[in-house]
Parts: sequence; C-alpha cells; structure tokens
Amino acid sequence: MRSKLEWRAARVLVIETPAEDVRAVTFAVEDLRSSFDPGSHTNIKVMINGEPAIRTYTVLPSEPGTLKIAVKLHPNSRGGSAFVWTLKPGDETEMTEPENRFELSWRASHYLLVAGGIGITPIYGMAKALATRGQSVRLIYGARSIEQMAFASELRDLLGDRIETFSQEDGQAFDLAGEFAALPPDGEAYLCGPHGLLETARNLWRESGRPMSRLRFEVFGDSGRFAEESFQVHVPRREKIVAVRADQTMLDALVEAGIDMIYDCRRGECGLCAVNIIEASAPLDHRDVFFSTEERREKAKMCACVSRAVGGTITIDTGYREDSHSATLRAPT
Ligand code: FES
Repeated sequence: MRSKLEWRAARVLVIETPAEDVRAVTFAVEDLRSSFDPGSHTNIKVMINGEPAIRTYTVLPSEPGTLKIAVKLHPNSRGGSAFVWTLKPGDETEMTEPENRFELSWRASHYLLVAGGIGITPIYGMAKALATRGQSVRLIYGARSIEQMAFASELRDLLGDRIETFSQEDGQAFDLAGEFAALPPDGEAYLCGPHGLLETARNLWRESGRPMSRLRFEVFGDSGRFAEESFQVHVPRREKIVAVRADQTMLDALVEAGIDMIYDCRRGECGLCAVNIIEASAPLDHRDVFFSTEERREKAKMCACVSRAVGGTITIDTGYREDSHSATLRAPT
C-alpha cells in the first residue's frame, strides 16, 4: 500500500552515454509539473522477461517538460537497467511525477556530498543547486575508473577545486572519517552509493558523535555477497507458497500473489515492508540500510523490497493486518 502514483505518458527524446557503462535517457513527459527538487526520483514502467514491472530512478536536472535518468548496466540487474539500455528515441512508456525522499535541508553552513559510482545521479543535482545558490559545498566522487565517472567534467566545471575524484583502478581512496571530522558542527553530509559505502559511512558518522539527522543517504545495488537466485516464500497465515524469480523482488512476488503488503521506498530505506521471519532453510541476503547489523544477525526480520533468500524456502509473516493499516515507523539510525 502506498500513495497513488501519478503516471504520465513518456517518450524517449535523447540517449547519451555519459560514462562507459552508463546510459542517460531524456524523456518528453506529458503534463509534467514544471520543476522538481534535487534528489527526486521517478518510477518508470519497464518490461522484464516479457512481464511488466516498475523501477525507480533518480531524476537529473533537465529542461521543463522532460525527465532525464541515468542508468548503469549492472551485471546483477534484475532487468530494469537492461530494459532502459534497449530504449531508443521514439520509444514510449509511462513515468510518474517526481517525488523526493532525499532532500537537501538548506539549513547547513556547509554540505559534504559523497558519490560512489552511479550514486552520482542525485548528488549531481544537489551539487548544481548548492553551487547555483552560492552555498558552501564539497563533493567527493569515487568510481572504479575515470571512464566510469559520469558527469565528472560537468561537475569539475561547476565546482572547480571543490570536487575531488578517486579512481579505484588507480589505487585512490577517500578518507571518509577525515572528511566528516573536517565538517563544521552544523555541517551535513549527503551520500549516495553502494551498500558497503553507506554502511561504512553510517558507522563512521555515529562514531563521530554527530547527530544522525545531519547524515542523509540513498543506497543502490546489491550487497555484493550473493547473486540473485530464485527462492520460495511460505506465508502460513495466508496458506500460500509464493515463488520469487531471480529477476523479481520478494515484495513484487508477494503483491502479485495477492498478499497485502505495506511498503513505500522500495529501496531498503524506510523499513515499512519488513516481514517477520519464522524459519529459513537458506542463507538470507540482507540488502537494506534500515536494520542494524545486530538486528540482521538476529534473523528475525527482513525488508521484502530488496532482501532475498539465497535459494530454498523461507517462512514469513507480514506486517499487514486487515483490521489495521498502521505500521510501526522508525527513522533510519
Ligand atoms: S519499502 Fe522501504 S524498506 Fe522496503
């Protein structure tokens, strides 16, 4: 259950390749609101193995009446990025009005932006907005190689010596603890990158003693530990056994099977889709950033939108009750 999405007809206008494995697609979108804030995302209808599905991507700054997304072709893709890579000018789909759950606060005296790989997509819009308004900002941007850094030259033009890039291939790495220590007391950090980077950042930020409300992040991708495998979910309360394909999330499979679920972000951040694990015959691949390491170790809950079992069957109960549409909400810590 989530707020109703406002779908709009969208047609591919332009395809660009801002990095060797990244495709940027600009869509002309009907009846689009005129502007959206940096950090906003859109949903797009895609086809995966002949089946309709929905994927969520950050929107990049673009002309009025258009939405632009940048998508990395990922080897572990469940099909969303592969679909976007097949698009050509003139192709049609539907997209939603952008929404924002990764907003700039506009209250800090200095902003540290950190991007890992394709995590540059929300950070790019933030850097542009902050620089345009004359705010104090620094961007650190890491990727596997220089060739895989989308929008790096535009960002260098925009930020000058306020951007630093790091290429893993060249043995470069950034010092996140040092970056956090250099922030003024009311400084804020905004990060987007893979799971491991976000986990490290959350731990370092907590150790620095800074308020967690001044660290904001968005995560993408898998945990890097397991490839996608199909598995089964047994829901005794509904007397159902649901098969989850390798190219499908557990949340999508449960919803398709007619099981009511509460969810929102679909990115492992809000915790709304968490299910109770009764029994698991296979290892669990936790890919959320909602639960702490200790909570994951307890193996009592998992986020159905991103986390998976590595084969086998898991037996679960869902948080949804017909007599109550409410859920226990907790902010990420
Ligand atoms: S829907 Fe937000 S964590 Fe799954």
